[in-house]
Amino acid sequence: MVKCHYCEREAVVRLPYAKLNLCREHFAEYLLRKLERSVNRYKMFGKGSRVVVGVSGGKDSVTLTKLLSESGLAKMLVVHVNLAIGEYSRISVETVRRFSVEHGLDYLIVDLSEYGIGIPELVAKTKRSPCSVCGMVKRYVLNALTMDLGYDALATAHHGDDMAVYIVKSFLLQDYDQLYKISPVNYEVPGLAARKVKPLYEFYEFEVETFAKLYGLPFVSVKCPFKHVGWLESYVRELLDRAEEESPGFKVSLLRSHARRTMSMRSAEQAQPKACASCGLISSGTECSFCRFTRRALGQPMGLVVRRWIIGKA
Ligand code: FES
Ligand code: ZN
Ligand code: ZN
Repeated sequence: MVKCHYCEREAVVRLPYAKLNLCREHFAEYLLRKLERSVNRYKMFGKGSRVVVGVSGGKDSVTLTKLLSESGLAKMLVVHVNLAIGEYSRISVETVRRFSVEHGLDYLIVDLSEYGIGIPELVAKTKRSPCSVCGMVKRYVLNALTMDLGYDALATAHHGDDMAVYIVKSFLLQDYDQLYKISPVNYEVPGLAARKVKPLYEFYEFEVETFAKLYGLPFVSVKCPFKHVGWLESYVRELLDRAEEESPGFKVSLLRSHARRTMSMRSAEQAQPKACASCGLISSGTECSFCRFTRRALGQPMGLVVRRWIIGKA
């Protein structure tokens, strides 16, 4: 039996980058400390802040929410955007509801099908890939909600393995706009954009998944039917996994160096923030991408409709 580094119990997880074997309890304690350190290191939000947590119902978002609620660092509102992707969305909504009720958390489900802006409807009317439409819609709704309900920050559950892949992929594509946007903290733009934070920025995916399983958290394990991983992403992921195996901790040092650079810069959009002519939130052109996209797909920009719904919930 391999013993826990801190006690006599049996270790259930090994963290190669920290050279630690840990029992269930000390693993949870370790992750909680890691979460608090990340929140403080990157000055994500102050103790007692009001934070919206975007929860898809997957292992990453339920782990983030559970750890944040255990830490007592923030007053949270769990928000799930129902994308109206058939059975997948039905299971996701139920999981988020069950998880929130079991943990006594305030939650809000934003139902896009009410406005005919479910992902399948939108995708049928355009040539854009479902995942890029979905990402844009979720970003819009969560930003609007955090702004309109007056919360201090929006937390999402992006973990380090994915962040490292996006950094390297954006570099290979020489997409510097994207590269500079990848950050543990994206600062607020008063009146236009909420502060966005990624408390799991330095977490490995295996830590997140092991925690969710060890603590029996309900999470959605079916994949979204639209999910598609391109060849470049698979290639970069494999490369980074190899690097991590050769040199445990490689990904976290990459993430930290990247954060040091990007946090001292602002993306072009944030340096010269503009307001969308239709909905008033942040935009790189005259109209934000959500309003522009819904105008093309449905004949009218939907930003203000969504914002009115949100304000009705306040
Ligand atoms: Fe967004 Fe699948 S969850 S496209
Ligand atoms: Zn222990
Ligand atoms: Zn808009």
